Amino acid sequence: MKPISVVIIGAGNRGEVYATHMAKLREQFQVVAVADPDPARCENIRRLFGFSEDACYQDWRDIMAQPKMADLVVIATVDNMHYAPALQAIEKGYDLLLEKPVAQTVQECVDIALEAQKKGVRVLVAHVLRYTPFFGKVKKLLMDGAVGEVMSIAQVEAIGNDHYGHAYVRGNWHNEQESTPILLAKCCHDLDMIQWLLGKPCRRVQSFGSLTHFVKENAPAGAPKRCADGGCPVSDTCPYNCLDFYYAKQGHVVLRKKITGGIAKGSIPTDEEVMQALKTTDFGLCVYQANNNVPDH
Ligand SMILES: NC(=O)c1ccc[n+]([C@@H]2O[C@H](COP(=O)([O-])OP(=O)(O)OC[C@H]3O[C@@H](n4cnc5c(N)ncnc54)[C@H](O)[C@@H]3O)[C@@H](O)[C@H]2O)c1
Repeated sequence: MKPISVVIIGAGNRGEVYATHMAKLREQFQVVAVADPDPARCENIRRLFGFSEDACYQDWRDIMAQPKMADLVVIATVDNMHYAPALQAIEKGYDLLLEKPVAQTVQECVDIALEAQKKGVRVLVAHVLRYTPFFGKVKKLLMDGAVGEVMSIAQVEAIGNDHYGHAYVRGNWHNEQESTPILLAKCCHDLDMIQWLLGKPCRRVQSFGSLTHFVKENAPAGAPKRCADGGCPVSDTCPYNCLDFYYAKQGHVVLRKKITGGIAKGSIPTDEEVMQALKTTDFGLCVYQANNNVPDH
């Protein structure tokens, strides 16, 4: 069977994850183009498949300005950049692997669903938990009636404290006005799970949370705005000390790549590049003095 040809839009963390999996499944997938403003990220994916440098685009709009060039588009841009590329890709007749959350409003989700129906294209949303053996087993047990009729589901999005500090205090999802509320950014997995596990419409959902810990009132007395400024009185014991978290722990390759962004160049970032990021980006901020506003529990 001919492999499915694929365009990747957004060659960051997720885009690279999909490309890497597809590169291991060559008989099934062939990535033929990529779009990302960061040439190093495009190059990471281009190298995996060996397509021409001309097929590395700087912006998803550049790809959509071309005639349809593949079967499938992977949309792996950040949360507030799903709707527009999704609609245009559907309009051009691409099937989609669309990263969660689908979009930022109910109306936008409805638009995507209706347009896909109209065009007869398929949209697979990356609710990846459905495909894990653990949740697959839970689903099967529930469907087999192992616990009788399901009356309610308590779903806890237990984000580890280190992941929370990285992504929701310092990183992409730290501010709901700039990105999406955590209920969409993270708990859309829970909402999907509830719906999927039930196998029938869910009548009512309640969600609780607020921001209480990662606030400036909890900053240790004398803590500098940035860990790298030095002189922090709790630097030896603070689990969020960015020098320890990103710099000393050489094993954190993914995180080191993430915080150095465009200077990653596909290779493991050097200590100098990591230190530069910690001095200049939000990843170097004290977690109690960052610009975060999303709930932390
Ligand atoms: N399914 C899951 O379990 C899961 C897990 C993590 C993240 N996500 C979702 O995946 C999406 C991407 O997250 P990420 O961690 O890979 O983010 P990321 O910041 O690592 O990657 C986003 C990429 O989009 C690129 N980009 C920016 N503007 C662009 C443009 N105009 N055209 C093309 N590319 C552009 C950026 O340069 C960046 O490389 C998010 O919506 C996130 O919520 C899903």
